[in-house]
Amino acid sequence: MKVAIGCDHGGINLKPVLTDYLEKKGIEYVDYGCYDKSSTDYNEYALKVSNAVASGECDKGILFCGTGIGMSIVANKVKGIRCGHCHDVFSAKMTRLHNDANVMALGERVVGPGLMIEIVDAFLSTEFSGDERHARRVQKIKDLEEKSFR
Ligand code: RB5
Repeated sequence: MKVAIGCDHGGINLKPVLTDYLEKKGIEYVDYGCYDKSSTDYNEYALKVSNAVASGECDKGILFCGTGIGMSIVANKVKGIRCGHCHDVFSAKMTRLHNDANVMALGERVVGPGLMIEIVDAFLSTEFSGDERHARRVQKIKDLEEKSFR
């Protein structure tokens, strides 16, 4: 599995915690920035990570900002992206099982590093259930992407 990661200045303190975890687990990742604490716009990193996942260059994406909100809003504008905004382990698991989310966003000002790792671990280790009702609903999201704004 190859994971795209990205953050703005509001999420940058969590990034080394995440990269340590990924390295220890032997999970390949691509870091799309940002790379320092100067104020920047979350839009850029959410777009880079989302494009990497939507194009198939990476399998999953993880985004951090202060709250995870801006990142998740942008990610969900990209065709092919289903971004779950998760601050607990149950939601991270369910967004994989039921929504087949391929990106997850969370906020450094909301969760600490220990919980963040448990959330990420649940997200990366849970497969989509594949149940007919969930597959149907995910397909409806894909259909909506084709129809909206036209
Ligand atoms: C930056 O101050 C903050 O607004 C950003 O990281 C994020 O929380 C936006 O949703």
